[in-house]
Amino acid sequence: MQRTAFFINKGVVMNKLLHICSSPRGERSYSRRLADIFIHSYLRNHPTFVPEVLDLWKMDLPEFDCVAANARYDFRGEGLDPDEQQTWRRVERFFKQFASADKYVISAPMWNFLFPYKLKQYIDIITQPGMCFEYLEDGTVQGKITGKPVMLILTRGGIYSDENGKAFDFQRQYLYSYLRFIGFTDIRELVAEGQDINEEIAEKNRQQAEEEALVSALNF
Ligand SMILES: Cc1cc2nc3c(=O)[nH]c(=O)nc-3n(C[C@H](O)[C@H](O)[C@H](O)COP(=O)(O)O)c2cc1C
Repeated sequence: MQRTAFFINKGVVMNKLLHICSSPRGERSYSRRLADIFIHSYLRNHPTFVPEVLDLWKMDLPEFDCVAANARYDFRGEGLDPDEQQTWRRVERFFKQFASADKYVISAPMWNFLFPYKLKQYIDIITQPGMCFEYLEDGTVQGKITGKPVMLILTRGGIYSDENGKAFDFQRQYLYSYLRFIGFTDIRELVAEGQDINEEIAEKNRQQAEEEALVSALNF
């Protein structure tokens, strides 16, 4: 289990709750608001935790471009040229920031059945062999981010929890598969769907999600 107490304050070991926020809508984002409700409630009962927010649209996320992709291949072969070294050091910094958290919250609206591309960009940066996962000698892959819970906070305009909708719900399915791949086993969720159908449905689903947020914050 990777426990990564990140600093000690007056003799108390503090832990990090990392919120990866992927809606660009700031104050008007409901996924962000629901995440804030969950996190504030969590922190009230867990005073040794300190939040860190990664607002993916306000950060200077590097492109995972030709140099970065080649660095990933050259790492285990010829070695890195100076450009690749510089790019790889940045990748390592992003990975270390991610891996140093003790608990995770990922908030994401559905965008075209998935989520905003900044979240995929972030995933492409941190998900490197030897960092988030490793290849074992028998050819299998082992995730390295283990022993920590993650809460997914998902919003969508339509309804995807029924039989017709499920086939289009790559937002939830992708995140579960991806997180399992890199080692997570404790994956939880708060979903507010139907946000763009009409105000009555939206409000009913928001209320339900907010009640669930308060309960799930107690035992996260
Ligand atoms: C670019 C874009 C694409 C969207 N695609 C979908 C979609 O495929 N399915 C859906 O149900 N809602 C879709 N929506 C609606 C959002 O998922 C919904 O309004 C959500 O509640 C927004 O969350 P936020 O307030 O945190 O940004 C889309 C919204 C935008 C801006």
